[in-house]
Amino acid sequence: MLVDSHCHLDMLCQQADDLPPVLERAQADAIQHLLCVAISLERFPSMMELIAPYPQISASVGVHPDGVDVEEPDVERLCALADQPRIVAIGETGLDYYRAEGDLEWQRERFRRHIRAARAVNKPLIVHTRAARDDTLRILAEERAAEIGGVLHCFTEDWEMAQAAMAMNFYISFSGIVTFKNALDLQAVARRLPAERMLIETDSPYLAPVPKRGKANQPAYVRHVAEFIAGLREESFASVAEMTTRNFYALFTGAPRPDRAL
Ligand code: NI
Repeated sequence: MLVDSHCHLDMLCQQADDLPPVLERAQADAIQHLLCVAISLERFPSMMELIAPYPQISASVGVHPDGVDVEEPDVERLCALADQPRIVAIGETGLDYYRAEGDLEWQRERFRRHIRAARAVNKPLIVHTRAARDDTLRILAEERAAEIGGVLHCFTEDWEMAQAAMAMNFYISFSGIVTFKNALDLQAVARRLPAERMLIETDSPYLAPVPKRGKANQPAYVRHVAEFIAGLREESFASVAEMTTRNFYALFTGAPRPDRAL
């Protein structure tokens, strides 16, 4: 049994009818739970409406650091939207200095507000970080993110950053990027990461893993991420599946377990 700890179903599915086949495919590959991650407040209501009929899908609320010209969330609004059982995390939030230009103080402020909201509602953070390593760690520390913890999603950083994040109660999540041929440094991190801190995800519809690279990614493909990591670590697929699933429920304790949900 597997969990896809990070997907964007509302971007994968243009209409509600597109979702059932995606979920059937995921179920056929033993994906028991999915966490559908928000990227903006504008899209949030339709995302929640899309997933409403399916208890095997949890959700987060937040505004992606790449979002410009979007509604800026304040702490109160994030807390109000997070106050429902389906919402198990705040995010995705964080810093992205790769895509953005100029004075990025607005990104850092947005990130701080997400951390404050997460602490206020006692839900973990889903953090996106790209080309912003030092500021990400500094702001997480300054805003005492360790009190709620979370995950560095779609991890592409080095071992030092993984260690610094784990010291603040964060998990490390690997996406299909770890399966790419040129991802040798990242594969080295996946090899040495303590099993009890590892999560896996698709980040679908982006970043399909080998052997599906180039196709639209979907939650079922998280199996390929798990298989690849099992090979790297010389562990069984079953043990990677079990650990990452256990870790998911430990972090996102609000997510219903399958014996209750399905
Ligand atoms: Ni994402």
